[in-house]
Amino acid sequence: QTVFVLNGPNLNLLGTREPAVYGSQTLADVERICAAACQRHGFGLVFRQSNHEGELVDWIHEAGRLHAAGSLRGLVLNAAAYTHTSVALLDAVKGTGVPMIELHISNVHAREAFRHHSFLSAAAKAVMCGFGVNGYGLAIDAMAGWTSA
Ligand code: DQA
Repeated sequence: QTVFVLNGPNLNLLGTREPAVYGSQTLADVERICAAACQRHGFGLVFRQSNHEGELVDWIHEAGRLHAAGSLRGLVLNAAAYTHTSVALLDAVKGTGVPMIELHISNVHAREAFRHHSFLSAAAKAVMCGFGVNGYGLAIDAMAGWTSA
């Protein structure tokens, strides 16, 4: 089975972007964390980042096709700022039925009020935030324990 990890806008800047909030590890480091976690559990990995909402929608549809074929373990979605704005991403997750873990590197609830609401949580199997980039590995570990995916 394959794990999809999709990252939204500005996450390509990880490492240099607000390091006090997001840490100093880069998106390449995050990919390595995900690859190691997938290797532990024998999952394939699709790891992508986009600054474009529609591209993320298309990729969720792609994950949905794998899901329909029984070959998707789950989707780890850090939609970044689109978390707080995007009905389109919510609809994509709902429309495909992909088992999704919503992830944020930072603890969004300890930050500005506009980060406290997520359009995606309603369609998430689980939500995690504040674990830093290690959260990605933890999310994939959690998927390994899912009895049906
Ligand atoms: C984020 C939190 C969002 O509020 C923010 O817009 C991001 C990153 C996180 O990983 O902590 O870009 O999703």
